[in-house]
Amino acid sequence: MEKILVTGGTGYIGSHTAVELIESGYDVIIADNLSNSNIEVLDGIQQITGTRPGFEQIDLCYRELVFKLFEKYAGIKAIIHFAAYKAVGESVEKPLDYYHNNLASLINLLYAMQKFNQPGLVFSSSCTVYGQPDILPVTESAPIKQALSPYGNTKQISEEIIADTIAAIKNLKAISLRYFNPVGAHKSGLIGELPLGVPLNLVPFVTQTVAGIRDKLKVFGNDYNTPDGSAVRDYINVTDLAKAHVVAVQRLLNNKNKTRYEVFNLGTGNGVSVLEIIGAFEKATGEKVPYEIVGRRAGDIEKVWADTSFANKELGWKAATSLEETLASAWKWETYIRSKMKNKA
Ligand code: WQD
Repeated sequence: MEKILVTGGTGYIGSHTAVELIESGYDVIIADNLSNSNIEVLDGIQQITGTRPGFEQIDLCYRELVFKLFEKYAGIKAIIHFAAYKAVGESVEKPLDYYHNNLASLINLLYAMQKFNQPGLVFSSSCTVYGQPDILPVTESAPIKQALSPYGNTKQISEEIIADTIAAIKNLKAISLRYFNPVGAHKSGLIGELPLGVPLNLVPFVTQTVAGIRDKLKVFGNDYNTPDGSAVRDYINVTDLAKAHVVAVQRLLNNKNKTRYEVFNLGTGNGVSVLEIIGAFEKATGEKVPYEIVGRRAGDIEKVWADTSFANKELGWKAATSLEETLASAWKWETYIRSKMKNKA
């Protein structure tokens, strides 16, 4: 079986991608420092797939450790690089931690790819590189705007590092996947998003509010130039997103990539407002979401959604899961993890 290294693979999108890779017949090795995830995620992956992925606890900021990892797992066929800090607000408070962690880990991986002649990288990027696009839906050729946070800047700089490295090292190739807003959980309810502390993202805050962990949801602004005044995003089911990573790996392994560095937007193509998320969640679960409208959150953009035609055509991939089914999966996961924590307590 072809070996795929998944860095950050005990994280939210990484763990869902590990499931899809295993179910597609790949041998998955997860490398993670567990700074923002839980080792028990491996149990969930095993329960779903029947296979426990290989696991190495490692801080990718140490180049010698990365080299030892590649020596140990000779024959890695491709890398999917998720491992990074990703909290927008935290990145403003701790920029050096974000620049060091997110860039040093990528640079060490690229050095290892060169040293061990391992050619293929799939990189976890973000629509945040577009800032507030001038034209919607946003295509891959839209201008990259001044980053609104050090986190967003690390994604922009990472893409530049990858592009420059590939230009210089002829046998390397990579695909950057620019995610819109990943939401939901695996249909089994056995893995999902597990934010440490107070959730910053909308959907986990909704599910924790309905679970009674948070008092009420704050809707950050209803004075935007959108149909209902609340901000609009492109919410994509996490399993649909994970499947796109399998397609990207296969594209590299089968030399189907048209150029040695490709970029794809991964979204649904539909813009959905915060208030519409609340309505869809209540419809999908029968639960009521207590919320209040408050002022805008600093750094938020007004509206963004993807032009998905390039990914649909070139990758032959399309986000297929409905918003209601996705939000129901988020709620199923929330109820599962709360009962699991209660039993452990
Ligand atoms: C979505 C909408 C909020 C919480 C960020 C990063 C992006 C990616 C996903 C890492 C916004 C509103 C939210 C709340 C709210 N992260 N909201 N009340 O900011 O679009 O994207 O997270 O990869 O790179 O930029 O996602 O879920 O934080 O917010 O009203 O309690 O929900 O204002 O309009 P965002 P989000």
